[in-house]
Amino acid sequence: MTRDRILLLYGFLTLLAAGLVAMLVLPEDAVETPPPSSSAASMQEKPFHMGEQLGAIRPIPTLPAEELQSGKALLGEKLFNDPQLSGDGTVSCATCHILAQGGDDGLKVSTGVGGATGDVNAPTVFNTVFNFRQFWDGRAMNLSEQVDGPLLNPSEMASNWAIVIRRLNDSASYRKAFGREYNGVISEETVTDALVRYETTLLTPNAPFDRFLDCQNLKSDRADCESDAITAEAREGYRRFSDYGCISCHQGVNIGGNFFQRFGVMGDYFADRGNATETDLGRYNITHRDEDRYVFKVPSLRNVAVTAPYFHDGSVASLDQAIDIMGRYQLGRALSAEDRRYIAAFLESLTGEFRGERLQP
Ligand code: HEC
Ligand code: HEC
Repeated sequence: MTRDRILLLYGFLTLLAAGLVAMLVLPEDAVETPPPSSSAASMQEKPFHMGEQLGAIRPIPTLPAEELQSGKALLGEKLFNDPQLSGDGTVSCATCHILAQGGDDGLKVSTGVGGATGDVNAPTVFNTVFNFRQFWDGRAMNLSEQVDGPLLNPSEMASNWAIVIRRLNDSASYRKAFGREYNGVISEETVTDALVRYETTLLTPNAPFDRFLDCQNLKSDRADCESDAITAEAREGYRRFSDYGCISCHQGVNIGGNFFQRFGVMGDYFADRGNATETDLGRYNITHRDEDRYVFKVPSLRNVAVTAPYFHDGSVASLDQAIDIMGRYQLGRALSAEDRRYIAAFLESLTGEFRGERLQP
């Protein structure tokens, strides 16, 4: 079978899965008629259900307080906010991943050390632990592999491990913290581990849409269930998002982040946008396989209403326009203003809470 055929087959399978997902999480009369009370329990007993595995949207879990407050995670938080990790001591992870503003920087492309600009839009750091790879082109397999990226990148933190480890060793408070958490070892591994443990706590549970899902799945066991957690417009938007096939790519707990897809399945986005760059080649830059040209990790749509601008190129400022482009280039479908309004209402219902506060743009 050629690679293209495999891709097609994969696409077909994901569509099939999306159909299953729609059946699973969106029964025809979802709100009024909850699934039989045994279904939530039986879904948990059979985690290998195809629809669930490939794509059912699931709520973001809430972490227990011990995990949020673990010594390693708190050390990671300090490192995340510390500009000493950058070459000239001016830029921290938090410079570009501002937790009070959706976990990104709101810029088209980020600005690093000495005002250097990068060439892609900064994604949010919220919920990234659920992504199957890290970065737009998926070049990091997981969060541990990701840390090196910004640290060494000359247009981000322009640093190196020797500098980082020396500076941390020079600090009495870090020596104390690493003494407690890592037997005094301050190394690439322990710094990375602490950062990753902190990032793993950056979850945004309790989005209105998750409360609505919880209600559908667990209605019979919950007194505080909110079937009206999202508006009728958002519910209709979710139905169109599923029916039109957005969900065949944006699926799973992160509503994205679980496989690669070409940007421009149904049209040449890059020719129409103009000024194609090397970065636009996406996954091709990693694999050098022709079929990976313009292929990117499907991004998570969690908190997407507060993380403008959009796409890897940061070229689109409004959610309305991003939805329009997705309809045209990914589905070959001209979405009406009404479609876009409903789908935007659904996407807005995906904005979660960080430590009890709803995220803000
Ligand atoms: C100068 C701005 C900047 C700084 C500083 C920065 N980042 Fe990022 N971050 C970005 C950009 C831009 C990307 C996307 C890069 C790409 O995909 O090629 C990114 C991607 C990520 C991702 C992947 C998210 C995903 O969904 O793929 C994670 C996780 C992350 N950064 C965490 C960190 C951590 C941890 C630090 C500090 C060690 C850090 N970042 C420092 C701009 C920055
Ligand atoms: C064939 C797979 C596919 C389908 C179908 C699809 N998308 Fe996407 N979506 C992607 C990919 C890939 C990207 C990242 C493109 C890029 O920036 O390189 C993306 C990006 C997005 C973004 C921007 C996210 C961000 O943080 O920048 C939004 C919003 C979005 N999609 C919404 C939708 C909606 C709404 C639909 C249905 C109308 C849809 N998508 C259908 C694959 C898909």
